[in-house]
Amino acid sequence: MAGVITSVKDIVVRARFDDDPPSVNELIQVDNGHGSQLLVDHLEPGGIAFCLNVRSDLRIAKGMPVERTHKGIEIPIGEPTIGRILSALGDPLDGQPPVEGESTLKKDIMKLPPRSDNFTVAKPEILETGIKVIDFFTPFVKGRKIGIIGGAGVGKTVLTMELINNIAQSGSGLSFFSGIGERIREGHELYETLKENDLLKNTCMFFAQMNENPVQRSLIGISATAGAEYFRDEQKKDILFFADNMFRYIQAKNELATILDQVPNEGGYEPTIFSDVKILQDRLSSNENGSITSVQTIYVPADDISDPAVQFIQHEMDSIIVLSRKVAEQGIRPAVDLNLTSSSLLTPEVVGDRHYLLSIQVQALLQKYNSLKGIIAIIGENELSPADRSDYNKAKKLIENFSQNMNVMTKHTGVEGKFFTREETLKSIEEIIV
Ligand SMILES: Nc1ncnc2c1ncn2[C@@H]1O[C@H](COP(=O)(O)OP(=O)(O)O)[C@@H](O)[C@H]1O
Ligand SMILES: [Mg+2]
Repeated sequence: MAGVITSVKDIVVRARFDDDPPSVNELIQVDNGHGSQLLVDHLEPGGIAFCLNVRSDLRIAKGMPVERTHKGIEIPIGEPTIGRILSALGDPLDGQPPVEGESTLKKDIMKLPPRSDNFTVAKPEILETGIKVIDFFTPFVKGRKIGIIGGAGVGKTVLTMELINNIAQSGSGLSFFSGIGERIREGHELYETLKENDLLKNTCMFFAQMNENPVQRSLIGISATAGAEYFRDEQKKDILFFADNMFRYIQAKNELATILDQVPNEGGYEPTIFSDVKILQDRLSSNENGSITSVQTIYVPADDISDPAVQFIQHEMDSIIVLSRKVAEQGIRPAVDLNLTSSSLLTPEVVGDRHYLLSIQVQALLQKYNSLKGIIAIIGENELSPADRSDYNKAKKLIENFSQNMNVMTKHTGVEGKFFTREETLKSIEEIIV
């Protein structure tokens, strides 16, 4: 009935089952007296299961017997997970006891919720973020996805924290945070920020930072999503889902593909990159029970936005906020590149006529500004016609107007953060351009 471990190489463990081989994504138990477990990645002929040592458990060795569990990775879900920090396997990372006990519900993280066919998208509902540049260019619409794209250190995490803070303050719904492959201390900082602002009672956190092995980093977004699905489907809640950083999910998948000797695709990425992105993004969606609104940061390797992984993830977003080093160097915060930032939700139906018409005027002014900048570099500002000079100055004011201090930075900078209602934002823009 059972199998035996035939080789251990790094975190890849091969086990042979003479009959009744396990299924893909099943956990198998190692009979080493410690309850060690392995996750089946794929099967090969001859009853060979290629398994991943999910916890990098060093007590697993060749020759040990293994047994099927007939179960996948199950994590605790529901009320007791609120305010907690869990790993991809549902283990506590906050120094508190495990979420367990008779009444604890468990969910297989790979199990897809039933498909809903008769779901019609409700009238778009805009959530105010208090951040002018977002509320104006990339409206935060319930049930939709915003991607925050940029290279290292341009402000993706700070902007995400500010969004968590501002939206959670308004008391709407439950937030999920998934820390994927980023700096270890960032989890601690998030926890402290949420605690200071009394937001832990509305947040579930999942972390697999860069210190964790690629199996956990590749699973953490899925585990967090499984947790969010429970609240959406069983408790009919609206969920806010934050992931920092979605690029690291693909990076972890890549590392696994390398360890498993899989042949990369022509873009140099793991062969199943497309479906890996798609499966997770499709689960981060709304249905007749409730909504999942997500904010996902996307790291851009070497500041190259045409990277295939960046492109794949970007295509799943409704809005894209691009942060750039060039803008940051001008002292503008958040360092949003207004020329590359875009949203499919900036329509009269979603934002209304006033906002929409204003956005067209603003975009025209910004385009003119870009071409005038080139001219000024050659002939100087004084040579511009009065009309051009006026537009140039308006655009400059607009760009400055989209800069604002963040609440989550106050304790570092000593400068108070600001929250602008959408009405205030629209008004400030109208005052500049009319
Ligand atoms: N809105 C902001 N206001 C002030 N400082 C900022 C802001 N955004 C970023 N920074 C500074 O830049 C650093 C890097 O930002 P971070 O969000 O961690 O970058 P990323 O996540 O894109 O790598 C922060 O530690 C902070 O010092
Ligand atoms: Mg970051």
